[in-house]
Amino acid sequence: MDLETLRIVGFKAAQAGAKALMERFGKFHTVRKKGVIDLVTEADMRAEQAIVEVLAAACPEHAILAEESGRQGGDPAAGQWVIDPLDGTTNYAHHLPVFAVSIAFRSEGRVLLGIVYNPATGERFTAVAGGGAFLNDTPIGVSQTADLGESLLATGFPYDIRERAEGVITVFTRFLKHSQGIRRLGSAALDLCYLACGRFDGYWELNLKPWDTAAGALIVTEAGGRVTDFTGAPYRIERDHILASNACIHDAMLALLSTDR
Ligand code: IPD
Ligand code: CA
Ligand code: CA
Repeated sequence: MDLETLRIVGFKAAQAGAKALMERFGKFHTVRKKGVIDLVTEADMRAEQAIVEVLAAACPEHAILAEESGRQGGDPAAGQWVIDPLDGTTNYAHHLPVFAVSIAFRSEGRVLLGIVYNPATGERFTAVAGGGAFLNDTPIGVSQTADLGESLLATGFPYDIRERAEGVITVFTRFLKHSQGIRRLGSAALDLCYLACGRFDGYWELNLKPWDTAAGALIVTEAGGRVTDFTGAPYRIERDHILASNACIHDAMLALLSTDR
């Protein structure tokens, strides 16, 4: 299947997921807890079901890794869809329109397609490997801000924050003292896309899963940004932490993340 066909199928699946989310957005939700502050609503489940139905029908040969239902489908060697049906569940459950469907496709360890779609704003970020990054149909690129002190950063707090607040806050404080400001939106996929289109200059986060970052990390790379782990090694979606930036401020951010400070 060529990249353009994958993109069309991926977007059809994202639209199906988005429809399930918007039908329920702003209404009362049955909320279940996966952890003390880690929520899942019926919208997460219905969106994932809708996405998987589209992908399984169009590409039965492909494997699927989806946040709520795990691994299913064909052989990962033929390619794998990596799905977060609702990134930003806490926002969604509080009727805050900062959430997205995130869908990526990877083959032989490489992410080839990324789609992040926020149906509440109509913003759809996409990238295919080697083809640049887009917001709706307009090409996007990272910012040119070279000074960390003039940079707007984003981060998120891990769901196990109650057990590790001190370490997280220590790093947060360092960035507060060295940046123009920090935002915490509650959707890792949108944080990455906002970096890709120049709204943020840098982003770091701990304790993430492949479905949080697979699409967004490709979108950042294709927009000209740099994505690594906290040691500066190229990012792989199996890593549980991520540093992404406009590339210009990457080394300065790495220095602040270094544990020996
Ligand atoms: C979460 C969001 C949040 C990040 C969490 C993720 P979810 O995903 O991306 O911004 O801080 O670590 O788990 O649970 O809303 O899909
Ligand atoms: Ca997520
Ligand atoms: Ca999710």
